[in-house]
Amino acid sequence: MSLAITGIGSLVTNDPELGEGAIGELRDAAIVVVDGLVAWIGPGAQVPAADLAVDVEGATVIPGFVDSHTHLVFAGDRSGEFAARMAGQSYAAGGIASTVVATRAATDTDLRANVGSLVDELTRSGVTTMEIKSGYGLTVPDEQRSLEVAGGFTDETTFLGAHVLPSEYRDRPDEYVDLVCGDMLAACAPYARWIDVFCDRGAFDGEQARQILAAGQAAGLGARLHANQLQPGPGIQVAVECDAASADHCTFTTSADIDALANSNTVATLVPGAEFSTRAAYPNARDFLDAGVTVAIATDCNPGSSFTTSMAFCLAVAVRDMKMTPAEAIWSATAGGAKALRRDDVGSLRVGACADLVVLRAPSFIHLMYRPGVDLIESVWRAGELIYGRSAV
Ligand code: NIG
Ligand code: FE
Repeated sequence: MSLAITGIGSLVTNDPELGEGAIGELRDAAIVVVDGLVAWIGPGAQVPAADLAVDVEGATVIPGFVDSHTHLVFAGDRSGEFAARMAGQSYAAGGIASTVVATRAATDTDLRANVGSLVDELTRSGVTTMEIKSGYGLTVPDEQRSLEVAGGFTDETTFLGAHVLPSEYRDRPDEYVDLVCGDMLAACAPYARWIDVFCDRGAFDGEQARQILAAGQAAGLGARLHANQLQPGPGIQVAVECDAASADHCTFTTSADIDALANSNTVATLVPGAEFSTRAAYPNARDFLDAGVTVAIATDCNPGSSFTTSMAFCLAVAVRDMKMTPAEAIWSATAGGAKALRRDDVGSLRVGACADLVVLRAPSFIHLMYRPGVDLIESVWRAGELIYGRSAV
């Protein structure tokens, strides 16, 4: 069955051959979807006949957001920690421990319900592909069940057993690293596509990160890394050395870090919500973009440093405070996120790509950043199916 989406006032394709600029923006456009894929894209006046048609009446259409970094599998509440930070306390990796206690105590049913409600929020925010990490279990069974729960919502699951040292291993870091690389990895690898390490102050050092990523890669997982969030450090260099798909956060960088990223296949994933909610200094995205680094934007949704599911919010902050242009930001949250997951079937709208798209009640995508805090999302479609919003068919 074919579906035509017509009356598109502005269409962001991310294919420069289809329209203007790097985001390939087309005016007065239409799309035809067949079997969940984009089958035709072009001027509205030339749209071929289809079984069904939806007229979006001049709205803007963008590719669905690809959120390449979330920590949705957790229980408990850390709003008190946020309030304390806003009163002057600083963010430290240690807050993770309180979520670990709550997550271990939660039932599978509760964990699944929590993830489900956050996935619903992400969907309403226009996210059509998402990565979900473990990392609040930190025992073999708790990490494994976190990934099983995550796998009920996405194929992009990440084993983050090396989030922090759990308290029972406080004085035995080498034993914990051996556990992560041994029994925990063996139990988790069947449920994960990726492996990640929090390489930073209060978490794991560069040597430990290298060892853990190498073990994960030997077990068939792709590498990604939490790097340079709390202070300058070895994270980005380790990520590049390991050919990680992405180095995430990149808050504190040197010019050598930027050069290393620019000469690699590693995407820099910026997470504006984390600097916002921890009141940290923002990285300057210009340093990355002007050096030729591929930049993604993700929510980093987690209960500690960035409890947001709103991509539009992250885009507004990236533009205002990280110095991205609106076009760069929209690319980074769609095509950039896809690159951070090493995917080319999502993140852009061209013939053969997944028909994952968001209809915005606005004359252009710029309104996503120009109207911060305003929900402009009219509908969200994945593989040509309406997954949120007003049914027009
Ligand atoms: O990406 N940096 C490490 N992990 C999360 C925060 C986790 C937490 O505070 O619960 C992050 O910011
Ligand atoms: Fe994170």
